[in-house]
Amino acid sequence: MQFFLSDETQTKQFANDLALLSHPGDIYLLTGDLGAGKTTFTKGFAKGLDIEQMIKSPTYTLIREYEQGKFPLYHMDVYRLTEGASDLGLEEYLEGDGICLIEWGQLIKDDIDVPFFEITLDKVDDHSRLLTLASSAKELAEKLKQIETTLLAQGWQKNNNG
Ligand SMILES: Nc1ncnc2c1ncn2[C@@H]1O[C@H](COP(=O)(O)OP(=O)(O)OP(=O)(O)O)[C@@H](O)[C@H]1O
Ligand SMILES: [Mg+2]
Repeated sequence: MQFFLSDETQTKQFANDLALLSHPGDIYLLTGDLGAGKTTFTKGFAKGLDIEQMIKSPTYTLIREYEQGKFPLYHMDVYRLTEGASDLGLEEYLEGDGICLIEWGQLIKDDIDVPFFEITLDKVDDHSRLLTLASSAKELAEKLKQIETTLLAQGWQKNNNG
């Protein structure tokens, strides 16, 4: 399903609301061009988990772990990952009891053998984004539907073309 986010505040609020519907073990691949808003999204998501620490882009560190919120948050950016997913010890995180948000996650899709959600951010203009929420596998279809239904009930507007 697609959602229209008119500005940065909406992106953060949407991510916050999605975090409230998420559970340990959930994996979100964040897809979108440079500056699409993947890190911005993560800031809102972290807020939803009651993480008060400042979220910094893990562009060079590849991963940052936040342990003091409702659930652990593993924030990754695999844009510069050269050796493939094993380099990162990715499996440990994917199977851990935290939530994984993986910027540029599409680059390591083939290394992920558990079901995941995918969030794609597309720039509409300087301020607005189109967010597409999807899941990788049938196992998550029901959960995805529940999430979408709840977001719609909370007032998030489905994009007409999505
Ligand atoms: N609706 C919006 N949602 C998210 N970011 C927005 C929005 N409108 C404008 N922006 C701006 O776009 C930029 C997004 O930067 P951000 O670092 O989140 O992107 P990114 O996808 O993580 O990029 P990178 O691939 O370099 O990691 C910020 O400067 C933010 O202020
Ligand atoms: Mg980023």
